[in-house]
Amino acid sequence: MNERPRHTAATEAISAGRIANDRALSTPIWTSAVWEAPDADEAARQATSVRPERFYSRYGNPTVRAFEDAVAALERAEAALAFGSGMGALSTVLFALCSAGDHVVASRNCYAGTKALLDGPAARLGISTTWVDATRPGAISEAVESGRTMLVIAETPSNPLLDLVDLDELGSITGPFTVVDSTFATPLGQCPLERGVDLVMHSATKGIAGHNDVTMGVVAGERELIDTIWGYGVIHGATPSPFDAMLALRGLRTLDVRHERQCNSALELARRLRGHASVTAVHHPGLEDHPQFDMAREQMARFGSLLSFELGPQCGYSDIVERFELIRCATSLGGPETIMCQPSSTTHAHLSHDERSEIGITDSLIRLSVGLESVDDLWADLEIALR
Ligand SMILES: Cc1ncc(COP(=O)(O)O)c(C=O)c1O
Repeated sequence: MNERPRHTAATEAISAGRIANDRALSTPIWTSAVWEAPDADEAARQATSVRPERFYSRYGNPTVRAFEDAVAALERAEAALAFGSGMGALSTVLFALCSAGDHVVASRNCYAGTKALLDGPAARLGISTTWVDATRPGAISEAVESGRTMLVIAETPSNPLLDLVDLDELGSITGPFTVVDSTFATPLGQCPLERGVDLVMHSATKGIAGHNDVTMGVVAGERELIDTIWGYGVIHGATPSPFDAMLALRGLRTLDVRHERQCNSALELARRLRGHASVTAVHHPGLEDHPQFDMAREQMARFGSLLSFELGPQCGYSDIVERFELIRCATSLGGPETIMCQPSSTTHAHLSHDERSEIGITDSLIRLSVGLESVDDLWADLEIALR
C-alpha cells in the first residue's frame, strides 16, 4: 500500500515532466523535426499510433511532452496537450469537438479573442454561440440546448473584470463538453477538473511560462478526450516549438513562488486602491466586497495576480501612463513586470462601444497585472501617477 500523501501542485511543478531528461536535471530541447525509424514496421507503427513522441514533431516532441506531463500533474488531469498559443489551444478544441449545426454556450465576459473566434470563423462555419452572463446562477444550464449544444466555454476569473463562474455548477452540466479558460487563475489558483469540468485550458504565454518570452497554450483533461483533440490538432497544426516548451517548463518550476508573491501584492494593491480618491471602483475577487467573494474563497486557492479599477473623471489614462516609472504600458499578464492596459483600447478594442458597455468595459477601466517588484515600490508608482 502506498502510504505517501499525494504531492501538492507546488511540488508537482518541480517534480513532474521529466521523461525527456535522462539524468539531466534540466529538460533538454529536442530540436529535431523528425526521427528515423529502425525498420519499416516501426515506421508504420509510429505513423499510425496516437501521440507518438519520436516520429514527427507536429505529432509529438519529447520536450513538449515533458511540459504537457507537468501541466497534467498540476491540473490533476490524465493528459495535457500543448499548442503554439492560447488561441491555438482554444480553436483546436473548438474545431475538434464541434461541427456545422452545433451550438456553443460561452460566458460573455471573456478574452476578446475568444469572442472573435466564436463570432467569426466558428459562426461562418455554421457553429452558433449563445453568450450568457455566466455570473448569474443557472444561466449556462438554461442556455444549453439538449442534443445540439456541444461545448460550454467559461472563463473564470474573467478578463478584464475578474468575474467568476461557479465551477461546481459548470462541472454538474451533463451533455456538452465543458471547458474552463483558467488563464487568470493559473493551475495553482484553482482546479476546475476536480469540480467535474471536462477540460481546462490556459494561455501558457501568461503565468505558466511567466517571463513574457513564450507564446504557448495548453489544454488538460481525460486522456481519451485529449487524444481526440490531438487527432484534429495534428491537422490544425497549432504546434508549439520545443524551445518554447522548454522555457514554459522552466517557468512552471517556479510558478508557485512567483504566483504567491504576485497574488499577495495584487490583493494589497487592490485594497490600497479601493481607498484612493481618484479611483471609483476596484475589481478583485479577493476583496471582501467583490460580489462573488464567497465563491472565490470556496473555489480558488489564490485570488490571482490581476485586478482592474475605474479611474475617476479627473484622471485620464494617457496622463497616468506617462507618469509611471516602474509600471509599464503593455497588454499581457502573469510576467515579472507589473503592466497596465486600458482594455477598451487594446484587448477589447475591436468590440463595438455598445458591446463593450454591455460587458462593463468603459474607457476609464484599467487592468493591472501585478509582477514581482516590491509592493511598496509599486504603490509609490501608482500613487504618484494618480495624484
Ligand atoms: C484569458 C485568455 N485566454 C486566452 C488568451 C489567448 O492566449 P494567447 O495570446 O497565448 O493566444 C488570452 C490572451 O491574452 C487570455 O487573456
